[in-house]
Amino acid sequence: MLELRQIRHRYRHQSLLDDVSLSVTPGQTVALLGASGSGKSTLLRIAAGLETPDAGQVHWDGADITRLPPERRHFALMFQDFALFPHLDLRDNVAFGLVEQGIRRAEARAQAEALLSRFGLGGRARERTTHLSGGEQQRVALARALITRPRALLLDEPFSALDAELRTQLQREFSTRIREAGMAAVLVTHDEAEARAMAERGWRLEGGRLRALW
Ligand SMILES: Nc1ncnc2c1ncn2[C@@H]1O[C@H](COP(=O)(O)OP(=O)(O)OP(=O)(O)O)[C@@H](O)[C@H]1O
Ligand SMILES: [Mg+2]
Repeated sequence: MLELRQIRHRYRHQSLLDDVSLSVTPGQTVALLGASGSGKSTLLRIAAGLETPDAGQVHWDGADITRLPPERRHFALMFQDFALFPHLDLRDNVAFGLVEQGIRRAEARAQAEALLSRFGLGGRARERTTHLSGGEQQRVALARALITRPRALLLDEPFSALDAELRTQLQREFSTRIREAGMAAVLVTHDEAEARAMAERGWRLEGGRLRALW
């Protein structure tokens, strides 16, 4: 279980997060809503280990991992701006995490191609990501986040650049994988309907605190 315990964080003398606690069980998705600038991405970065909170802890299965480096958490963070590798093709972008884990490149590439096919990009595996539209880049980023079967999945507005049909399709794909793989998932979105469709619980981040919505 992923737990954020009494997280406090300031940015340039401004309190951004003020006593935020949240827990997510394996296979569960929770949603975070909130105005732009309210600190949603910051909270995900703290959960992922890319930032250290001023106070409070991040726990996994009861162990304090607040100071554990990101690569040792086995979490996947899908960034709001995708952060794909421009010098690699789609296949190697998606295969990256598997290769890092020591899986042979040929096997990693085969798995990446299979996942890209499920995301409607099978025919484009050898192209550079710089040639893709925003929605296509988003699908590559989603595949890259899912392929290593992380124990926690932190999604920062993952479906925002997609058209309605693809959005619904990928929401379903994600919900199924989250449940099947038993991942603890945190979904940041501005779309309350999407949040309600995917998440068992939802909170709004407001004034540095979480307010339960459902
Ligand atoms: N490195 C940083 N660490 C923490 N906060 C930052 C950093 N850089 C900028 N900020 C500020 O912290 C505030 C919260 O930013 P954050 O990205 O967490 O908001 P957000 O809720 O994700 O917003 P959005 O919905 O627009 O993505 C903003 O005012 C932002 O300018
Ligand atoms: Mg954000």
